[in-house]
Amino acid sequence: MDRESAFSFKLSKSPPFMLRMFLLLVVMMFGVYIGFLCLKQTTVQIESTNRSIVNEGAVTRCDILSSSSNETIFVHFPQPKTYSRGECACTPVQFVVILSMQRSGSGWFETLLNSHPNISSHGEIFSVKQRTSNISSILMTLDRVYSLEWNNSAAKNECVSAVGFKWMLNQAIMVYHRQIANYFNWKGVSVILLFRRNLLRKLVSVLANAYDKEMKQLNGTHKSHVHTKEEAEVLANFKPTLNTTSLIPNLSQVERIMVDSLQHFKSTRHIILYYEDIVNNPRALYNVQEFLKVPVRSLLSRQVKIHTRPLSEQIENWADVSTTLRGTQLSQWHKT
Ligand SMILES: *[C@@H]1O[C@H](CO)[C@@H](O)[C@H](O)[C@H]1NC(C)=O
Ligand SMILES: *[C@@H]1O[C@H](CO)[C@@H](O)[C@H](O)[C@H]1NC(C)=O
Ligand SMILES: *[C@@H]1O[C@H](CO)[C@@H](O)[C@H](O)[C@H]1NC(C)=O
Ligand SMILES: *[C@@H]1O[C@H](CO)[C@@H](O)[C@H](O)[C@H]1NC(C)=O
Ligand SMILES: *[C@@H]1O[C@H](CO)[C@@H](O)[C@H](O)[C@H]1NC(C)=O
Ligand SMILES: *[C@@H]1O[C@H](CO)[C@@H](O)[C@H](O)[C@H]1NC(C)=O
Ligand SMILES: *[C@@H]1O[C@H](CO)[C@@H](O)[C@H](O)[C@H]1NC(C)=O
Ligand SMILES: *[C@@H]1O[C@H](CO)[C@@H](O)[C@H](O)[C@H]1NC(C)=O
Repeated sequence: MDRESAFSFKLSKSPPFMLRMFLLLVVMMFGVYIGFLCLKQTTVQIESTNRSIVNEGAVTRCDILSSSSNETIFVHFPQPKTYSRGECACTPVQFVVILSMQRSGSGWFETLLNSHPNISSHGEIFSVKQRTSNISSILMTLDRVYSLEWNNSAAKNECVSAVGFKWMLNQAIMVYHRQIANYFNWKGVSVILLFRRNLLRKLVSVLANAYDKEMKQLNGTHKSHVHTKEEAEVLANFKPTLNTTSLIPNLSQVERIMVDSLQHFKSTRHIILYYEDIVNNPRALYNVQEFLKVPVRSLLSRQVKIHTRPLSEQIENWADVSTTLRGTQLSQWHKT
């Protein structure tokens, strides 16, 4: 009897050990939750404040006041986790991306950029399908490039002052263009839109490249870019036959993609560059370097142009093709 009352007394006055632990745990978790909320709020506040202010902090840390205030969003001081930028820790870095299409000179353009000691352009990193399977995968990849953690033969990590890669418009860009443009604007990525004016030459190059992929004409290996005249000649010997039924719809569609991409990325800091202008005008590469804010110098590539002859000599059914194009808007470009 006595024992029973003592037991019931204990039960009502003091909860058992397990219950007390449980309550303690709840209180602790609530505390952590509140702390987390506060933390989250400050993070959000920092993110939503004008990015130029956030970046100005970084600028003064590195004691660089040269850029005009409306452009500080494009000045970065990445601190890679896997290595130190050493003496160049305070060398400002521009983030860049080259948006282009197949056979528009972007491979050549990239070798030119990479001949600069302060530019790293990492190639076509989104040709790996898995990296474009969803937007989070895309953004994660971008973050890695712009944190200077992407390592390949083009990486000049420490003293790089412009870092980027080339991205083909058919590699999920048009699908996620809104999120990607937002990322570029938020992160301060400068965009180079690289196009080829002569879409007929682009098409010849696409078909010749597809042919070589199958035939492997250079001693059994397929090459998209070559380094000698002899190799170029072998590849240029193939004259594709163009399907005149699908020709105009195809060229129009390519043009449509170019126009749409300009529309999608017009809000970013960007320049539009044409392959033909880089070929014909040495100033074009100086303008690019000014855009990237790197010391201007002359850039070199070992690549040799493949198709150098007039189009009439590079298309098997040229007579039909020129008849098909006669009187269209496209005809003016394709005389060369
Ligand atoms: C960004 O900051 C500038 C001044 O530093 C201010 O004039 C402007 O209103 C701010 N913009 C936003 C969106 O907060
Ligand atoms: C910054 O301002 C200058 C003139 O003050 C202007 O020429 C330039 O285009 C502006 N840059 C950006 C990114 O808005
Ligand atoms: C360019 O790279 C060289 C060599 O790595 C380095 O000494 C120099 O500080 C860099 N300059 C800029 C502006 O990034
Ligand atoms: C996105 O794609 C990557 C790689 O394919 C995959 O690992 C990841 O689970 C995907 N994430 C979402 C949210 O679907
Ligand atoms: C990058 O890769 C090269 C080999 O390809 C290696 O020598 C170098 O140490 C790597 N750099 C970093 C920072 O991981
Ligand atoms: C193929 O290989 C031979 C010998 O290895 C070389 O002399 C020749 O230049 C190569 N041809 C091409 C088109 O690469
Ligand atoms: C040419 O293109 C049309 C339309 O796309 C297609 O129907 C036709 O089969 C093609 N002809 C050849 C020879 O490939
Ligand atoms: C145009 O034709 C080429 C060659 O057949 C093809 O690779 C390309 O995908 C086509 N482009 C469009 C936008 O249809």
